[in-house]
Amino acid sequence: MRIVVLTGAGISAESGVPTFRGSDGLWEGHRVEDVATPEGYERDPDAVLAFYDARRRAVASTHPNPAHRALARLEGAIGDRLLVVTQNVDDLHERAGTRNLVHMHGELRRARCLACDARPDWDDDLRDRPRCPRCGERMLRPDVVWFGEMPYGLDRIEQAVVACDVFVSIGTSGEVYPAAGYVALAAAFGARTVELNLEPSDPAVPLDDVRAGRAGELVPAWVEEVLARR
Ligand code: OAD
Repeated sequence: MRIVVLTGAGISAESGVPTFRGSDGLWEGHRVEDVATPEGYERDPDAVLAFYDARRRAVASTHPNPAHRALARLEGAIGDRLLVVTQNVDDLHERAGTRNLVHMHGELRRARCLACDARPDWDDDLRDRPRCPRCGERMLRPDVVWFGEMPYGLDRIEQAVVACDVFVSIGTSGEVYPAAGYVALAAAFGARTVELNLEPSDPAVPLDDVRAGRAGELVPAWVEEVLARR
């Protein structure tokens, strides 16, 4: 059985990482066009670098929760028949042990050099304009995908989505494309579709199984069901 899991900010909420939308979400306190677009970066790079430095520091003091760990357990059991596609820029999936993972919106712990396009691992602040380890220029930006930019790994993701038997969406509002379109693509290719979210989202297609609640509870329970059915 091939499974694709799409995760969003909701899976990391119980680890203390803020989501984007909703009353205390990141987009309530910041304008998307200021901190998550190439134009915002051109206008005020210091503010944008400081924003991501703060997010990188905040995530460093969080820990994976039972939902991240359950997905790692599932990969331990079925190997690369599970692909986790995350929209999250935190590293909680990999810290829980997931390896077959695509960070379609990039990673806070990676930088990208605007001079030579290197994408080095990065744990420190970027606002002091450190040198690129490859070319030495001081033009590193966070390796996160901003609005108007191309997400990572789209070919690999689409191949897995059309070939999967089960598609599971966890902790995402389904507001941002192309991620929001994967559930309809999976359904069109015959996959069973499942949503595990705090509140039911408003998907473009009816889903087979919608469960409302906290990821930290729903995901371990769903993984146990899958493992029991094997
Ligand atoms: P959102 O903030 O849009 O949605 C988070 C979803 O998680 C909502 O549907 C919540 O109901 C749900 N949720 C919250 N707490 C939860 C919990 N404990 N358990 C389960 N679900 C919970 O975040 P995303 O859908 O990830 O992109 O947002 C998608 C993209 O929009 C992000 O990757 C980011 C953002 O703009 C870029 O920056 C390119």
